[in-house]
Amino acid sequence: MSNEILTHVERGVMTVTLNRLDRKNSITAAMYAAMAEALGSAAADDAVRVLVFQGHETVFSAGNDIGDFLTQPPASQDAPVFRFLRGLGTFAKPLVAAVCGPAVGVGTTMLFHCDLVYAGDNAAFSMPFVNLGLCPEAASSLLVPQMLGYHRAAEALLLGEPFMAEAALEVGLVNRVLPPTEANAYAQSVAQKLAHKPLSSLMETKRLMKQGQQQRVLEQMALEGEVFARLLGAPAAKEAFGAFMEKRKPDFSKM
Ligand code: COA
Repeated sequence: MSNEILTHVERGVMTVTLNRLDRKNSITAAMYAAMAEALGSAAADDAVRVLVFQGHETVFSAGNDIGDFLTQPPASQDAPVFRFLRGLGTFAKPLVAAVCGPAVGVGTTMLFHCDLVYAGDNAAFSMPFVNLGLCPEAASSLLVPQMLGYHRAAEALLLGEPFMAEAALEVGLVNRVLPPTEANAYAQSVAQKLAHKPLSSLMETKRLMKQGQQQRVLEQMALEGEVFARLLGAPAAKEAFGAFMEKRKPDFSKM
């Protein structure tokens, strides 16, 4: 497993750390594969009762690595990104996240699958898929309107505007806002609390809360995946990604 994704199991808690700070923890196919593998082994390992995702106190994740996406776009539903997202959407044990700094794209959408989310007061959530000529993923086109209400979802997904920790707290995307230096430790303390509870009860309770929704989530992920793959090859995404690499503003005037 690449050291850009660190995994560590201690006292019933697996911690998955995004560790690619020089690229703002943007996520490559190899990193998605490593995270999918971590979810799979955490699900199968009786010694793991809770999984925690964390980044650095300055940045959670800049989302998909744009260069990597250009060179190895997800070619099928079996691509690492989709395996990771399905693993996340079906993970039966408790998922906790600690988020500080920017959480872009999948850095935000993955949180809709976490059970408890703790944010640094510097957290900035954004889902700028439209600005990149793309569409939402991770079933966010279903889950964001459900949580935020349609009009706030439209602001987040059509305008792609960022929102800060306090706004995320208000809409219920995060459970608590903390100083960035404390967010990871706080998430660990909550994970420890969960790890001491009866796992079968935790898992049944999570299953009951999500019952009726999971199949719909998987269907929406598959649908989004098809549209995403089509848009990725279309002119708007090519212009957006080219502009990002060339550090200029994209020009969508002819698209
Ligand atoms: N893919 C590839 N490289 C990325 C990246 C991404 N998603 N996000 C950041 N990087 C790279 C930058 O190009 C830069 O590289 P350089 O040092 O060679 O110039 C380096 O990481 C540092 O990023 P920088 O933009 O200088 O950091 P910042 O602190 O000013 O801003 C972000 C941080 C996350 C707000 C900003 O990097 C950003 O908006 N990134 C793109 C997010 C995005 O659109 N993701 C896709 C979602 S689908």
